[in-house]
Amino acid sequence: MHTPVKGGAPPRVIADPGAWRDALNRHRAAGQTVGVVPTMGALHAGHLSLIRLAAAQRDVVAVTVYVNPLQFAAGEDLASYPRDLDGDLAQAGEVGATLVFAPTPDDLWPTPAATTVSVPALSAPLEGHARPGHFDGVGTIVTKLLSLTGPCWAYFGEKDFQQLAVVRRLVSDLSLPVEVIAGPTVRATDGLALSSRNAYLTEDERAAAPALYYALLAGRRAVEGGERDADAVRDAMLGVLRAEPCFAAPDYLEVADPQTVIPLERVAGEVRLLGAARLGRARLIDNIGATSPFPNPSAPSAGGN
Ligand code: PAJ
Repeated sequence: MHTPVKGGAPPRVIADPGAWRDALNRHRAAGQTVGVVPTMGALHAGHLSLIRLAAAQRDVVAVTVYVNPLQFAAGEDLASYPRDLDGDLAQAGEVGATLVFAPTPDDLWPTPAATTVSVPALSAPLEGHARPGHFDGVGTIVTKLLSLTGPCWAYFGEKDFQQLAVVRRLVSDLSLPVEVIAGPTVRATDGLALSSRNAYLTEDERAAAPALYYALLAGRRAVEGGERDADAVRDAMLGVLRAEPCFAAPDYLEVADPQTVIPLERVAGEVRLLGAARLGRARLIDNIGATSPFPNPSAPSAGGN
């Protein structure tokens, strides 16, 4: 069992990368395990669930708060992305954060990065198609943050399912001394997945927003009812989203392989339903799992010997 060093006190805030590395090295030297929760701040109950999970499992909980310019394309919401460091510190401390790393871009990159960490195979479809370059920015910052943090358990949300797949793969491919742990998506009572970007929604848009989740649920019903044609599953999801006129046509509503996130033609075994659509100023993304009653013939457990 670990000895908790957390519990409600305001976390120590560090902006200097070297001081961050040293602080975590000292905790490890004292025999403590480190959990890290990378975030872009504007913390909500989804982020807090990851911090709580880390606090339940590790001695020291390190939260990073950094709005990463590398993962925003020109014309996206980098400048207007919600920022509230004081609120973040109070909330993170309440649920067990020990240390918060809140660097500026200059603290982190005194010299602009000439390196990109890219996982092309997992970055091409879905979000990668809708936001070219996005996952290169995520891969690069996550690799840097994990490198500065050192050996640790790193907590990511299923809310950003493709990001989770990218991070798992880069950690594995680069042999980073990190174990990735996924936390389930936290939703509002009406089903809307919590997101810092929900702050952009007007009252009417907020009322319409759960339709994206309902569309995914319709996809799950189709899959679990035995629909094997991926186009029919997509149509079931589209029908639900289209019934909500506030939403623009979705960037995608897909039924995909849960490991590769590549869209499927035929549905079998475990699948992931993923969607993204613009609603007013916000762009919402969400995903859920589903299991087809038909086994996947290429899954290792279905093949016999
Ligand atoms: P951000 O959007 O702030 O999310 C930080 C972490 O919280 C991610 O792992 C995300 O999946 C998780 N999260 C967000 N909403 C959630 C919800 N409703 N339920 C459960 N978990 C949720 O994702 C990023 O920041 C950035 O891309 C980052 C990984 C920090 C790299 O810059």
